[in-house]
Amino acid sequence: MQKILVVDDAEVNRELLRNILRNDYVVEMAEDGEKALQILRGGCPNLAALLLDLHMPRVDGFAVITEMKDKGWINRVPVLIISSEHAVETENKCLQMGVSDFIHKPFEASVVRNRVKNAIELFNYKRQLEQKVEEQAETLKKQSLIIQMQAERLSKAKPFNKLMMEYRSVIMEVETKLKVLNAVFSEEYKRNPFESIKSRLKTPDSIYKKLEKKGYSFTIENIQDYITDVAGVRVICSFPDDIYRLADLLTKQDDVILLKKKDYIREPKHNGYRSLHLILSVPIFLADEKKYVKVEVQFRTIAMDFWASLEHKLKYKKDIDNTDEIERQLKACADSIEELDYQMQEIRDRIDIPGD
Ligand code: GTP
Ligand code: MG
Repeated sequence: MQKILVVDDAEVNRELLRNILRNDYVVEMAEDGEKALQILRGGCPNLAALLLDLHMPRVDGFAVITEMKDKGWINRVPVLIISSEHAVETENKCLQMGVSDFIHKPFEASVVRNRVKNAIELFNYKRQLEQKVEEQAETLKKQSLIIQMQAERLSKAKPFNKLMMEYRSVIMEVETKLKVLNAVFSEEYKRNPFESIKSRLKTPDSIYKKLEKKGYSFTIENIQDYITDVAGVRVICSFPDDIYRLADLLTKQDDVILLKKKDYIREPKHNGYRSLHLILSVPIFLADEKKYVKVEVQFRTIAMDFWASLEHKLKYKKDIDNTDEIERQLKACADSIEELDYQMQEIRDRIDIPGD
């Protein structure tokens, strides 16, 4: 049988409650809060509910609830207040501390039985639900771990390494194309259309996370089909018009397929981010086949790149204050940068002597 602990300084109340509940539960009794806490500290297995008086000498009911709350016991056993007090303030205080219900004196046997029964059932139901949620969370964690382990194994396997070799190759192809354009350009216009190129290959971990976010498993096919930025090339130009000229020359080449273009220079993101993004499909020549591989090429000016790297740091730093203010400042900087880029371009046009 389940156990009920009745805590009341008046013996008559304790006896009354014991008589009401003795057919359904084993009823234990304590004459004050101190004794009740002693019993609770002992662990008291099988305790189904606690019936607690508020006003008692030495340690009162509030002190019992406070300790139960501090130690987390209030989440394990329902507490019903037995009191003659009806003050809304007191009841609210008790409810806020986690008390389940109230049984008011004088006791009416059927009401006491029903309230106790309901409180116990509700608590058990809640506990079962919590347990189920915990079990499901545990299962999910295990599944996610298994998938991650599979991903890790795959990332060490031969087909994955071959795929990464292909992405490295397409980066080399695009870099060469850009370097050739730079040479042609500097021959014709006596200046370089870009300052530098930065390339990167997405890490297996980052590929895994992106696929997971999109709802796909970590397979060679899914990487090729759903991730367009495993190979990434960033081209840093001096002037905005070089960006468009270079992008145009690159996409016009007859072996380059333009899959997608996102022009965040003409239509900047809300935060002020500006860059031209191209998703290209470019062939690489392997030992026995020609294969088209996807690559993301981002074009920015030096100033836009400076802005983006600072903004990127803000995104990954979680513990900074005044993010709103910083975001506003960054947006203002982005606007100034745009103005600056075009002013510099204008100056260049003035000092550029055509045909020189
Ligand atoms: P990702 O899943 O992050 O690749 O974004 P997406 O598929 O929506 O494509 P998008 O063209 O918006 O962004 C591609 C890449 O551009 C990002 O991975 C970043 O490197 C860069 N980028 C895009 N938006 C921002 C931005 O607001 N700030 C910074 N610093 N970089 C950005
Ligand atoms: Mg990306």
